[in-house]
Amino acid sequence: MFFTLEGGEGVGKSTLINLLKKYFIEKEIDFIFTREPGATPEGKKLRNILLDKTIELDSLSETFLLLADRLEHVKKIINPALRNNTHVLSDRYLDSTYAYQGAGRKIKTEVLDKLIEPLDLPIPDLTIYLDLSVEEGFKRVRKRGELDRFEKQEINFFKRIRTFYLNLANENPERFLIIDSNKNPSEIFEIAKISILNKINES
Ligand code: TYD
Repeated sequence: MFFTLEGGEGVGKSTLINLLKKYFIEKEIDFIFTREPGATPEGKKLRNILLDKTIELDSLSETFLLLADRLEHVKKIINPALRNNTHVLSDRYLDSTYAYQGAGRKIKTEVLDKLIEPLDLPIPDLTIYLDLSVEEGFKRVRKRGELDRFEKQEINFFKRIRTFYLNLANENPERFLIIDSNKNPSEIFEIAKISILNKINES
């Protein structure tokens, strides 16, 4: 089964992933945890460019780099794991591109569709979306220190992203689980864990 985790900045994805990792290792369930951008050696180089706050990139250039990272990720990590019946959880994936480059950078959906279609990307079986207000997310991000190239965007960029995610999740309830990130980490973990286990048992 292929799982993805999505959300804006500072919503607590890393905390949730650490709890899930610990749980699935303890249960000896065959699971890999991976992330975008930067899961492969090639992707790490792309990630350095993408997050570098000292450079400016055209939105389409940014999209090409993210898609190059994704294609390497899918071919070298995600597809081989799925073929081997290993479950995969990716911290960010395709929906991030429609949210950040589509809603955030205002690249038209038709343009993104055209670029993405030839990549033949697998569709997640379940996407967990952690929802939090932009203001609250930013309070948490600021505590972490210096901001990267994305985190430096204006607040409306992130508001468009949140609205996009919420609409997408509400329009696709069969694929999405929305979790309110104001809940405490152990509650969020329990909700996510149960839905992941249900999906695995359904298959
Ligand atoms: P990262 O440090 O991994 O942050 P986060 O904890 O928010 O996931 O940075 C990844 C950044 O890349 C994040 O700001 C979102 C952005 N991004 C896109 O804009 N489009 C994409 O398709 C992906 C995968 C990430």
